[in-house]
Amino acid sequence: MRDGKDVQSFITSETESIRRRVGTARVLCALSGGVDSSVAAALVHHAIGDQLECVFVNHGFMRLNEVDQVRALFGDSLKMRLTVVEAEDRFLQLLDGVSDPEKKRKIIGEEFIRVFEEEAIKLGDLEYLVQGTIAPDVIESGTSQDPMVKTHHNVGGLPEEMNLQLIEPLRDLYKDEVREVGAALGIPRIILQRQPFPGPGLAVRCLGEVTSTKLSILRQADAVFQEELQRSGLANEVWQAFAVLPGIRSTGVTNGARTFAQTIILRAVTSIDAMEAGVAQLPLSFLESVGRRIVAEVPEVNRVAYDITPKPPGTIEWE
Ligand code: XMP
Repeated sequence: MRDGKDVQSFITSETESIRRRVGTARVLCALSGGVDSSVAAALVHHAIGDQLECVFVNHGFMRLNEVDQVRALFGDSLKMRLTVVEAEDRFLQLLDGVSDPEKKRKIIGEEFIRVFEEEAIKLGDLEYLVQGTIAPDVIESGTSQDPMVKTHHNVGGLPEEMNLQLIEPLRDLYKDEVREVGAALGIPRIILQRQPFPGPGLAVRCLGEVTSTKLSILRQADAVFQEELQRSGLANEVWQAFAVLPGIRSTGVTNGARTFAQTIILRAVTSIDAMEAGVAQLPLSFLESVGRRIVAEVPEVNRVAYDITPKPPGTIEWE
């Protein structure tokens, strides 16, 4: 780990400090199914066992079949106490008419907390909220030394007033270190190797206003890309790969007739800690076949492009 930290001593000292801080209180964990919140949940579970209640909020911005996968992995395989809250309508209504990326992030960040506060009361007056916040989330949301890049939903997106006290055991770690801690805690590879997925989910990949129609187009296109990456074995070569719906329509031709339809941007990057990223050198023939499948299977799309921007100057996500 960085700064000469040793994984086992990190786990031991965090375990002790979590136990000291919460005593016999019950604690809620905001589980997204991603690497960070899974490792945070496992670390706190290691410290306080069944005093931990995990809550997964389905905000409606998850990828195809993802909610069922999370339920199966965490509730069934890892035997953590898990509540799934279906909150799709609520998030979509709040985003109605909102197109500014920072406003979208703040609305989603605040609403997450409101749902967790409600669940904390339902589950029996829980006082603490575990989040899988990691160092880049804090840095990019802006600190006294670092200018703001974007408000990560779990840092800059938090409301000023909230009833839950935060526990963020991974706040000083980078993703590669988080994966090391997860491996030492025995988290299965299938979870640790999951691509990072932003808390606001597809809402920040559906540029501008978010609607259920746009989400459905994006979800279908993204599923094709993920499936092809897995099938070709290229999934292991990228840090993150996903589809973006920029909301641009362009002229095309199908069966000799004009079309005027949506564009999908494919983005795939390599990285070590998400602070910088390179463009994944996926074979052009592979990208072309993904594009062909998307256009054939998603009727609202007639054009597919590949993003060739490293970070910086681009960020990994488009919003
Ligand atoms: P950017 O787009 O800032 O992303 O280059 C860096 C990494 O962070 C993920 N990301 C987020 N993760 N909440 C999160 O938990 C967020 O609000 C958020 N925004 C971006 C992104 O997917 C990439 O891995």
